[in-house]
Amino acid sequence: MKVHVYAGASEFLARTHIELEKNEAANNLLLGLVAQPSDFNTVRRIVETTINRIYPLYYPNDVVRFFLDHHAPESILADINAGCVYIFDADSVVIGTGTIHGREIARVFVLPEYQGRGYGSAIMKTLEEMVFRTHQIVRLDSSLPAFDMYLKRGYKARSWHTIVTPGGQVLCYHQMEKENSQELCDSSSPCKEPDLKNEIILVRPFNPQTDRIATIELWNSVFAYDAPHNEPGISIDNKVAVSDGLFYVACNGNEIVGTVMAGYDGHRGWIYSLAVKPDQQKQGIGKKLMARAEAALRELKCIKINLQVLDTNTGIVEFYKKLGYVVEPRVSMGKLLKSK
Ligand SMILES: CC(C)(COP(=O)(O)OP(=O)(O)OC[C@H]1O[C@@H](n2cnc3c(N)ncnc32)[C@H](O)[C@@H]1OP(=O)(O)O)[C@@H](O)C(=O)NCCC(=O)NCCS
Repeated sequence: MKVHVYAGASEFLARTHIELEKNEAANNLLLGLVAQPSDFNTVRRIVETTINRIYPLYYPNDVVRFFLDHHAPESILADINAGCVYIFDADSVVIGTGTIHGREIARVFVLPEYQGRGYGSAIMKTLEEMVFRTHQIVRLDSSLPAFDMYLKRGYKARSWHTIVTPGGQVLCYHQMEKENSQELCDSSSPCKEPDLKNEIILVRPFNPQTDRIATIELWNSVFAYDAPHNEPGISIDNKVAVSDGLFYVACNGNEIVGTVMAGYDGHRGWIYSLAVKPDQQKQGIGKKLMARAEAALRELKCIKINLQVLDTNTGIVEFYKKLGYVVEPRVSMGKLLKSK
């Protein structure tokens, strides 16, 4: 049995980071999204590229192969179908991924060219916040390249494991844990602060238990409601009752900063209630919410999306035009169905 740790890896990575940071755009908005089946190739590319480029610096070939098998396409797809894989993009370029299994964070990868800029910490912070909503402890299995980052984020090694690969080489790893009450970073060795203008904005499905009140507040602040049937609480409860899953929020930590609702009746898709908190507008959040709703409608085989803009809000038409929508020669009509 052979155990290898390759020397020189950190020096190589440190050099690479310096070069990349020089070329880095100054302020990136990092967005997180629940991965859809259409994101499978993206997630697979991030995982395989990162393993193939980074892991040979730390592990012998047989162990690298083991990791590729461990994150095989069918495992990735199963997790995506289970709704527990997230992708993260900076300025519309997907740069990383992470997965949550209950209290466990897994398969966190940042593409090599984006490493060393704080994206890994930002992704971990977001994933931890999600786990801590329902669990007191977050767990993970640490790879050698990520071990230092986890220590700096306050994780403690709880146990040490070895796996012997088919070729007789040994993969060693720590199982690590972090408690909700612990400081985010170990103050004696602080983790790199993300080089980001904002925290990660995560676009995820609306959760009626946690998001209802904040969504009502957001809608009251951005929409001028003039009809009782548009009252936010009623709209939300009616949408949740339909249970079609076509309702998304953008969150900054626990704060709801954006929403979009979609609908599909088998003929046309519709967009409703697109809103971004005023102080968070013009950063790409609205565009990302629209992309999420469109992707969901596309997966339902919807061929055309319609939306309506109030004649008091025509300034927003330019926003939709940038996303490919065109003003169509239609007269919009409606009828209120009163209960008898
Ligand atoms: C519409 C709204 C959701 C847009 O959200 P946002 O997060 O500010 O939009 P984004 O930052 O994603 O903008 C995407 C693009 O549209 C542009 N854009 C955004 N708002 C715009 C506006 N009012 N006019 C022209 N362009 C606009 C952005 O500059 C950006 O362009 P770029 O891709 O070339 O950089 C937001 O303005 C809002 O909440 N408005 C109030 C509610 C509302 O009117 N909703 C629509 C109901 S029909």
